[in-house]
Amino acid sequence: VSLKPYNSFGLPAVAQTLVRITADADVRRVVDHAELGTAPKFILGGGSNIVLTRDMPQVVLKVEVMGRRIVEERANAWIVEAGAGENWHDFVTWTLAQGCPGLENLALIPGTVGASPVQNIGAYGIELKDRFDSLEGVDLLTGRTVTLGAEMCKFGYRDSEFKHSLAGRVLITRVRFRLPKPWQPVLGYLEIERKMNDTGIGRPTPQQVYEWIIGIRRAKLPDPAVVGNAGSFFKNPVVTPEQCRDIIGRDPEIVHYPMPDGTMKLAAGWMIDACGWKGKTVGRAGVYEKQALVLVNRGGAIGSEVMTLARAIQESVYGRFGIRLEPEPVVV
Ligand code: EPU
Repeated sequence: VSLKPYNSFGLPAVAQTLVRITADADVRRVVDHAELGTAPKFILGGGSNIVLTRDMPQVVLKVEVMGRRIVEERANAWIVEAGAGENWHDFVTWTLAQGCPGLENLALIPGTVGASPVQNIGAYGIELKDRFDSLEGVDLLTGRTVTLGAEMCKFGYRDSEFKHSLAGRVLITRVRFRLPKPWQPVLGYLEIERKMNDTGIGRPTPQQVYEWIIGIRRAKLPDPAVVGNAGSFFKNPVVTPEQCRDIIGRDPEIVHYPMPDGTMKLAAGWMIDACGWKGKTVGRAGVYEKQALVLVNRGGAIGSEVMTLARAIQESVYGRFGIRLEPEPVVV
């Protein structure tokens, strides 16, 4: 089975076996299967956060569990749930239409609901963990359905236990969100403030914030349906205040944000841009013109071309700033 249509980078790779999962019972059939049961497995959602560099010997489980519902209305929150195979952005749009706001800052993030906890998606001041209630999955060793709360998921910056000990171990089937009432907009992000100033709207509705976010993202992130990409290619590195002072000493312009724990997060996109990479092309891979943190497929690229470009960027950023950038998507 060709995986090219199943990854947003549009990279070629072949899976020996691909099984579509639409319900828990489909997972159990795989777990109980004589050969597939014990074979290594790879869980595929929307394929918007992976870089395929080779064919896949693993059994690929393509998650297509559908369904959306309001679970309950509490005094201080809505609890809503979606199947892991639902498109993330369509789900966000649906929650707003149901009168359950709270996910609008995460509008237009590519991928599926099931992938959202894996990398703790985040944008414009909100992370998935801020709206997470619990999730259901199936244990790929026992075939048992499990419910996991936030403590078990160990969410971090673009990170969770599903990237570590639970990788290939638990297949997420449904995710429940807790959307606090009354709704409070999250407006601290610079580009949102700019929208408020431009429009003169001081108290936006959820729909208004949603539309601003869509506008901001469309202006600087490539649409994977048009230009292959996997969103931010590197994580924003977190450094000690001393390291940060050191870098500021040499590069006073560097964009940096203080973190709650006293560390400093540096804008990787700014550093890559400062090294002159924006808009560059190496082989059939390139650096997006409007956002240097995003690598793109210029047409017909293969995974190793993307990784060659990624390594060249890592080396030049290390050479100038002494910082090792870490890839954000899962490199297969
Ligand atoms: N910058 C440059 N040149 C560039 C790119 C960025 O100078 O080419 C500067 C910007 O001007 C800005 C700073 O770097 O001052 C940060 O850029 P931006 O606001 O675009 O955000 P980011 O740090 O590049 C992160 C997330 C995005 C998320 C945005 C908004 C990561 C790895 N990326 O990007 O998430 O949408 O913030 O919250 O944390 C993703 O994870 O795939 C993703 C797109």
